[in-house]
Parts: sequence; C-alpha cells; structure tokens
Amino acid sequence: MLRTKILSTGMHVPSKKVANDDLAKIMDTSDDWIRQRTGIEQRYWVEDGVCTSDLALKAAEAALKNANLDKSAIDMIILATLSPDHEFPGTACFLQKKLGLPGIPALDVRQQCTGFIYSMSIADQFIRNGVYKNILVVGAEVHSKGLQKTNDGRDVTVLFGDGAGAVILAATEVKDPKTDSHILSTHLHADGSFAEELWTPAPGTANSAERVGAKEIADNLHFPKMNGKTVFMHAVKRMPEALQEALEFNKIKAGEIDLFVFHQANLRINDMIAKQFEIPEDKVFNTIQKFANTTAATIPIGLDEAVRAGKLKKGMLVASAAFGSGFTWGSAIYRF
Ligand code: ACO
Repeated sequence: MLRTKILSTGMHVPSKKVANDDLAKIMDTSDDWIRQRTGIEQRYWVEDGVCTSDLALKAAEAALKNANLDKSAIDMIILATLSPDHEFPGTACFLQKKLGLPGIPALDVRQQCTGFIYSMSIADQFIRNGVYKNILVVGAEVHSKGLQKTNDGRDVTVLFGDGAGAVILAATEVKDPKTDSHILSTHLHADGSFAEELWTPAPGTANSAERVGAKEIADNLHFPKMNGKTVFMHAVKRMPEALQEALEFNKIKAGEIDLFVFHQANLRINDMIAKQFEIPEDKVFNTIQKFANTTAATIPIGLDEAVRAGKLKKGMLVASAAFGSGFTWGSAIYRF
C-alpha cells in the first residue's frame, strides 16, 4: 500500500542563548518561577536581521542533507508558522526563493502549536493519493521579535523560543506495517470559539480603521495575549483526547508506543499526560528545558534532537500530540 514516511529530519536554532536569569534582568520574573511553572531553563533568540525563513532554510538544508536527497526531488513545500516573515505572501514562498526551487507549490499553515501535525496531515494526503512523492515540511518561528519584553508581557514572553525543524516526507510502498516506516494516521481538531484566549490581535482587518494603527500600537495589540489558565485547562484535556483517538483508531495500546514526541508548551502538561497513560518517563522526549516553546517548530525539533540523541531509531513507533492557539489540537502516530 502507498503510504508516507519520514525520510529525514533537520533543525536549526539561532546561536543567542537566553537563560531565565537573562529575562529576570529585563522584567519582573525569576529562574525559579519559570522553571517551577513550566520546566523551561533557557531558549534561543535570533540576532537582529534574522527572519523565520532564514531559520527554516537551515532546517530544510539539514533535512535534505540527512536524506541524502537533492533539492530538485522536492515536489512541494509546506511551512507552518505563527511568526511569518511578512503579512503576505506566505513564508513558504520566501523559503522557496531561498532554496531556489521555483515552480513547485508552497503552502503556509497557520495552526500555531498544532501547525506541524496539520502540515504532516496535509502532506500525507497528497502523498497517499499519489500526487507528490517528496514534500518538505517545515515548522519555523521567530517569536522573539513579537514578544512584549516588559512586566506586562512577562506571562507570555518567558514561554517562547525561536527555532526551526524540518522533515522530508516521502512516498513509500508499505509491505509490512509492523516494521516499515510510515504514517499510520493523523487526527486534526479546532474550536474557534476559544480563538481569543491566545492570540495577537494586530495587525488584522478586525481592528478599527487600519490593520494596525496608532490605537492598536498604543493598546499593545501587536503583542500576544494569553489566558494561561484556560489554555492549560484545555491542553490537559484535548491532548490526551487526541492521543486516545489515535490509539483507538489504530488499535494500539499506549504501552506499544516506543517514543512520545509531544508539543512542548509546559512540562507539567506533558507530565500529566504521561501519568494519565502510564507512560514511563524515558519514553517521553521533552525539549522544553532547552528550547522553550518553539510552537510549530517544536515537534520536528524534538524528532531531530531525539535522532541525534540516539533515542529515536528507524522502525520505532512514535506518537505525537499538540495543542495550541485557535484552539487547535491533533495527533499523529507513525513508524519512524
Ligand atoms: N514571572 C513571575 N511571575 C509571573 C510571571 C512571570 N513570567 N507570569 C505571571 N506571573 C505571576 C502572575 O502575575 C500571578 O501573580 P498573582 O498571583 O500575584 O496574580 C502568578 O504569577 C501566577 O500566575 P498564573 O497565570 O496563575 O500562573 P500559572 O500557574 O497559571 O502558570 C503558565 C502560568 C505557565 C503560563 C500556565 O498557565 C501555562 O502553561 N498555560 C498554558 C500555556 C500553553 O499551553 N500555551 C499553548 C501553546 S502556545 C501557542 O499555541 C502559541
């Protein structure tokens, strides 16, 4: 049967390391508060002049190198981000220009923390249906240029890091599903009635006269706003639901999964899910301590880190689940 497999992974984070103590120098926060509430110890932020497609390019080049694949074999680019290079056109177009791949379709996905799972699902449909053979899927974020780095923004600012992760998804003929690499399923959800629980209101046409005018700037509407408790409450309900849905769909027990690569919004969220499914600690691959929440880049960064740490090997059964702004949530199970 024709299926989709992850041919390779790649990632890139900028070189500027920002420790919790560095943030405590510019706003009223502390290493203790951030670690205890979230598990985050540090994050990476870009230098001036670096944009989302720059990070995406480096992650994509790493994935191409790891696949030993010439870029000319790529049939489509899908890029997930909430921090685009520009309002329009999509960042996938800027990445395509930097990669030097004119002509192939380039699609932006705007599903925030669930962006990678949405992108993976879209790519899987194109490949399963025989339309494309190789799709470059990238999650990339430059959060640091959009955060309010004052006391008013501290609840959100401490949570986010910059980075990019990429995978090459490729067509594969699966003979033995118990050993052959392939995506078993993806499940996607959204509930827009919670859109304003975690959002950046401006720029946007829903604002008064201009997408971003003096009033929006004065009201700090160009910075993200989050109702942290509501987001937390929904995340600990929706992520397990999505995981359960994927397990039931594939008739797999949680104990049969070799590695869980979840979205990284808060270590407490992932610990709660692990407890609920009785997943041993060493089967959950967490990266939040090192990178904070890199939103759409989180899961592909996790996969690449896990490969390089020797925790993720060909043939292993992997489950991912994510929850984030929208609200959006979803899951994927794949044999790596
Ligand atoms: N440093 C120090 N104190 C802080 C900070 C900070 N950075 N931020 C908030 N505080 C204060 C608050 O003002 C509050 O003070 P008060 O009690 O005097 O009012 C106190 O700390 C507690 O704040 P809470 O918001 O109640 O803290 P909580 O325990 O809820 O933790 C957190 C906050 C970590 C943000 C948590 O709610 C959370 O993780 N939410 C989920 C985030 C998430 O999943 N996001 C989704 C993905 S993101 C995406 O999709 C883009």
